[in-house]
Amino acid sequence: MNIATAPNLRLTRRQFLLLTAGLAAGCQSGNNDAHPAARTEQMIDAGPAGDFAAEGVYSRFRDRGFFVIRQGGRLFALSAICTHRKCKLIAERDRSFSCPCHGSTFTATGQVTDGPARRDLPVLPARINEQGRLIVSLGIQ
Ligand code: FES
Repeated sequence: MNIATAPNLRLTRRQFLLLTAGLAAGCQSGNNDAHPAARTEQMIDAGPAGDFAAEGVYSRFRDRGFFVIRQGGRLFALSAICTHRKCKLIAERDRSFSCPCHGSTFTATGQVTDGPARRDLPVLPARINEQGRLIVSLGIQ
């Protein structure tokens, strides 16, 4: 039985408005969870941390959007995406980075040394897991 055909159900205008407002609110709250997969953090397993033991820039993950860098005993992941207009950077022999699109350059730790880019490259969250593998977060995708 639906509300419109119920023989003994009479709603005042106020009751009808409250009922429909409640139904609409219920529909909207469901939309927040409609696409949970679109809000997941993208994690990349870069392999055993021991593969990055030597000082230098490892560019094998450039196409995934980051470089792995070992510098001064520190291991970190640096974005490989130019902060100007998002071109993929090139790792140079001197451990700096250059952008093939408009010529911006960055140090090995991501500081801008020449524009047009103005923002430094972000260091990406990374950790070594229990199995000794380097896990890099590309953020919420
Ligand atoms: S996209 Fe890199 S300098 Fe413009």
